[in-house]
Amino acid sequence: MARSKSTKRYTVTSALPYANGPKHIGHLAGAYIPADVYVRYLRSNGEDVVFVCGSDEHGTAIPNQALKENTTPQAIIDKYHALMRDCFYKLGMTFDVYHRTSDPLHHKTSQELFLDLHKKGLLKEEISDQYFDDEAKVFLADRYIVGTCPKCGHDNAYGDQCEKCGSSLSPTELINPKSTLTGKAPVLRPTKHWYLPLDHYEPWLKEWILKSHKDDWKVNVYGQCKSWIDAGLQPRAMTRDLDWGIKVPLEGAEGKVLYVWFDAPIGYISATRALFNELSSNKQNYATPQSEFKNVKEDDWKKYWQDDETKLVHFIGKDNIVFHCIIFPIMLHAQGEFIMPDNVPANEFMNLEGDKMSTSRGWSIEMHEYLEDFPDKPDVLRYALLTNLPEAKDSEFTWKDFQSKNNNELVAILGNFVNRAIVLTQKYFDNKIPARGELMPLDKKLIDHLSTFPNLIGESIETFKFREATSQLMDVARMGNKYFADTEPWKVFSQNPDRVATILNLALQIGANLSILMEPFLPFSAEKLRSILGIDKLNWDSAGSADILTTGHSLGTTTLLFEKIEDDIVEKQIKKLMEKKENVSDENTINAIKAEISYDEFAKMDMRTAKVIAAERVEKSKKLLKLTVDTGLDKRTVMSGIAEHFSPEEMIGKQVTVLVNLVPRKIMGVESQGMILMASDVNGSLRLLQADAEPGSAIS
Ligand code: 2FM
Ligand code: ZN
Repeated sequence: MARSKSTKRYTVTSALPYANGPKHIGHLAGAYIPADVYVRYLRSNGEDVVFVCGSDEHGTAIPNQALKENTTPQAIIDKYHALMRDCFYKLGMTFDVYHRTSDPLHHKTSQELFLDLHKKGLLKEEISDQYFDDEAKVFLADRYIVGTCPKCGHDNAYGDQCEKCGSSLSPTELINPKSTLTGKAPVLRPTKHWYLPLDHYEPWLKEWILKSHKDDWKVNVYGQCKSWIDAGLQPRAMTRDLDWGIKVPLEGAEGKVLYVWFDAPIGYISATRALFNELSSNKQNYATPQSEFKNVKEDDWKKYWQDDETKLVHFIGKDNIVFHCIIFPIMLHAQGEFIMPDNVPANEFMNLEGDKMSTSRGWSIEMHEYLEDFPDKPDVLRYALLTNLPEAKDSEFTWKDFQSKNNNELVAILGNFVNRAIVLTQKYFDNKIPARGELMPLDKKLIDHLSTFPNLIGESIETFKFREATSQLMDVARMGNKYFADTEPWKVFSQNPDRVATILNLALQIGANLSILMEPFLPFSAEKLRSILGIDKLNWDSAGSADILTTGHSLGTTTLLFEKIEDDIVEKQIKKLMEKKENVSDENTINAIKAEISYDEFAKMDMRTAKVIAAERVEKSKKLLKLTVDTGLDKRTVMSGIAEHFSPEEMIGKQVTVLVNLVPRKIMGVESQGMILMASDVNGSLRLLQADAEPGSAIS
């Protein structure tokens, strides 16, 4: 088992979400629900665990969003901090603290750590050339620069990261960079920054990650770390020229703030400090009502961050791996007083109905949207996500699968089992737990099998296999249904009521076990089940027993654990998703429709399908490709401004559409005999217009 005696306490963190907008269910599946299952399980085992989260309120994402919403950064963070905190709470997340990085305590904690590193001489001060937007007159933060990814060729990569291939980048690596503020190519200007020399720590990282965590970290996490380390690390600036963020606490650093990825992970520490500050002074602001800490001292946060007997686990999505496994650990290791994460069980991404989930493209189910439509079903979402977590590879959420998980598993297996046990007990035994009689081999086998589940499920949770754990939980109910099918108590009662008493006693014991084992996964339903059974919350070590319920104990209130979701409900959701996407793409359409033309004007254009048979770059031009196309009628030269989007190699053999009767004109000394037609989306990416037709076919 991963839980060991040398672990005295746990610090569990969930990635601090950016407070720049609502968060979707893919985020929940990545860093929040698995963490909550883990923490609830540890608490059920009586472990000392602090679970921290909060809003990440710095970085350029915030002022960017303020621009979009025509408001201030402060208004943005206030709005989304509250929204995320409330959604997390309604979905059952049991953070002890939900903090925010705009809190003065966090500014202080981050500045202290920065100053400490600075005083120890561990930050290198360097003047370097950075991109500056000459028109907007500002240095450009990484997120304000886009260009082509040098690793995968994606043409909309950010200055710090390519969201397509996941590579972490620096702005000067981008090909053809552009400022997102003005669309202009930025220029390099000198500016002073403080760098963390990540390269100095390579030997230590090799020892700590590559040697010590080869076998216990997930393959995807270990693999990403290894490729980073193998590629060689570079010093990274821990400060930025920006006016939104935590001020660099040094003279001569006016107008500069801490890099958001310097301050954000320190947010976990600040959140823990805030929790113990508040609980020790009986003031509660960020400490959540569900926190069970009592009688604590202000300094207790240190035990959770600086004691070797504490196990630190970061739950994140895959795009955060480098920051949690390399940069933040180096910061803490360099400072010298902190523990390292024991594990970083990062998840891959969850897609939605066949496409990447994305709030900005409108292809998402936001947490608040789900809660508005299904306020009484937080557990159904938890279950649908848990059974489909992107643990080893990207996964996919569909509304049909959501419906099927609810109807065919929660209702038909778990709910049905519990309901049958309750209804039969009401009918035959006046709602009281009947006494067990002599046990048959089948009963003994059931009791043995039941006793194996707590360890089995526990082991899966401790090794971060939450999908497997959820399926093992459902196996408990499956076992109960099979027991009913094998014993058929409803057929036996008239001849042998004592036998039925034994069967129902055991079935209800399974129900009581379920109420314990369900708690980490389906906490709201576990509570309902406890009230159905009329029992209090029990710890994990009470599970596995067939003697939880005492004979004669009266059952509690009768309700259904789960309800069927009808087709029209999910169809409505699918429709809503489609409509949302359409609305968003309408909003993003900047080009208004051009003025009307007559049919005759249209008919003058001769457009043909053609095939590219040769392609080459044009000397001294970044934009042009010289193409030779076979129009089916002739072979001709067309100069096309697509070199920033397509390579010559890519174009050869492609089918294209050509306007063949455009007046020829000389471009860069070459006569262009037509024009290749392209579709250009709102982001400026180009796509070829291709028709399924022979070269020379006329388009009309
Ligand atoms: O990717 C994100 O949403 C970041 N805001 C996560 C930060 S995690 C931690 F470092 F705070
Ligand atoms: Zn890339």
